[in-house]
Amino acid sequence: MKTRTLLATLASAAALGLMTSSAPAQTVRIGVINTMSGPQSNIGVNNDMGMRLYMKLNQDKLPPGVKVELVVRDDAGANPDKAKQLAQELIVREKVQILTGFGITSNAMAVAPLTAEAKVPMAIMNAAASVITTMSPYIARFSFTLWQSSYPLGKWAATKYKRAFIAVSDYVPGHDCEEAFAKGFTEAGGEIVGRVRMPLITLDYTPFMQRAKDAKPDVVFGFIPAGRFATQIIKAYGDLGMDKAGIKFIGPGDITTDEELPSMGDVPIGVMTVHHYSAAADRPANKAFVAAWKKEYGDKIGASFMGVGGWDAMDAIYYAIREQKGKIDADRTMELWKNYKNPNSPRGPISIDPETRDIVQNEYLREVRKVGGQTANVELEIVGNATKDPWKEINKKK
Ligand code: DHB
Repeated sequence: MKTRTLLATLASAAALGLMTSSAPAQTVRIGVINTMSGPQSNIGVNNDMGMRLYMKLNQDKLPPGVKVELVVRDDAGANPDKAKQLAQELIVREKVQILTGFGITSNAMAVAPLTAEAKVPMAIMNAAASVITTMSPYIARFSFTLWQSSYPLGKWAATKYKRAFIAVSDYVPGHDCEEAFAKGFTEAGGEIVGRVRMPLITLDYTPFMQRAKDAKPDVVFGFIPAGRFATQIIKAYGDLGMDKAGIKFIGPGDITTDEELPSMGDVPIGVMTVHHYSAAADRPANKAFVAAWKKEYGDKIGASFMGVGGWDAMDAIYYAIREQKGKIDADRTMELWKNYKNPNSPRGPISIDPETRDIVQNEYLREVRKVGGQTANVELEIVGNATKDPWKEINKKK
């Protein structure tokens, strides 16, 4: 068809109203920056699966005629410069109205100043270092902080063990875990007998766990970012016979992340963690979430805290779109997020602290046990009810 004929046809179709019924009145463009390839791809892939599952099942939560368009970019790992360049491209060229994703702290920190300069709201799906939300008033976090899990775990651990060794990945989230656990543990009377910071990207944790074993602690507190690293650190713990030597292994839920449990065999049985989500939780909202996940994705990869991070952040994004009838204003979006609440997330009740724009949620003490022939993170008790980020609470008091 010649261009003029095509234009004439389109013009008459529009005049007849044939196009308006199917063409959405409003499209909200959302920029997604996450880790979709490389050794940490599990984070972006799981956030993405949660986000897309939410979108598929909740189309009716958008106002009539409003459409959401995702513009997805892969930062390929802890690459602050790349994340910043991608955010610039999404804001300037792609004209996105909201930014989301952000699996890895270093990347979220690199993009934070841009959200303030360009006034683009950012909804964090995973990145968990406490400081991120203080770096711009246009950031809200729908995931977790590592202080939320590691600080109460330190307090709990001191009631069971006297001597602890700390082994963490050497980047900001690992440093947060180290500080939070040490504070909780020593405040409650425990002693830290040694520490090691491990490279962020490694699959061999044996040298570090050997150092931990040599220090003869009662317990090792470990943190690595979730994914294959979790399976590898659990493997080192098992290979070195640390469990048989009577040394317990504990940490935030990242070390026994649900989707990796099938790769770990029976080694993690008895590992205790604190976290905000377990795929094994029997809350009705979680049972429905896990069933929907299985129906959509089969048994290839299970539901995880990263899946829930993508799901919950997208619920908050849909809420902001709904309240503004598809016309996104940055300041109004932040006001809406500051007052966001969901009593029925798969992880339990969640809300955003309006003062800090950080998530408020329960923290559960869990143990890896066999349930129906498979290992699972079994929630035993709530160790932190409606927990705010302790790092911000402690610094506020200073
Ligand atoms: C990050 C934090 C985590 O707890 C995790 O499992 C993976 C990544 C982060 O903030 O970089």
